[in-house]
Amino acid sequence: MAIERTISIIKPDAVAKNVIGEIYSRFEKAGLTVVASKMKQLSQADAEGFYAVHKERPFFNDLVSFMTSGPVMIQVLEGENAVLKNRELMGATNPSEADAGTIRADFAQSIDENAVHGSDSLENANIETEYFFAKEELCPRLR
Ligand code: TYD
Repeated sequence: MAIERTISIIKPDAVAKNVIGEIYSRFEKAGLTVVASKMKQLSQADAEGFYAVHKERPFFNDLVSFMTSGPVMIQVLEGENAVLKNRELMGATNPSEADAGTIRADFAQSIDENAVHGSDSLENANIETEYFFAKEELCPRLR
């Protein structure tokens, strides 16, 4: 299996709940390594740019306002099959449909405040990584 990198964002609701460590622990137990991380208060422009693909959707303005409502924790995760593995750990977009034991089932309250973001493809993982991190901020895991 290929070693991949993916972007994970712990959203303002989960940061406010003080569960960054619990979520990191799930990454580590699943064999994903944090190779870059930063806490950041997103500006409106940051959030609009990040979610530009959704700009025609009815929930766009609410999503931008939620994502700028408090700090987020952004990390690059590295490991085998990292993109899919992170999506599995996250659970379905709507926490009421998320499998038991997933991050969204355990920490999210609604489809619009759903605790975490994860890249949905390797291509988007690369785009999202470049959006938030300079190359020199990535610290490859020593094996
Ligand atoms: P999406 O890319 O469909 O989901 P995911 O985060 O699982 O990749 O949607 C991006 C975010 O947009 C989602 O995490 C929360 C928000 N959203 C809503 O607020 N309402 C909705 O009906 C949908 C589909 C998404």
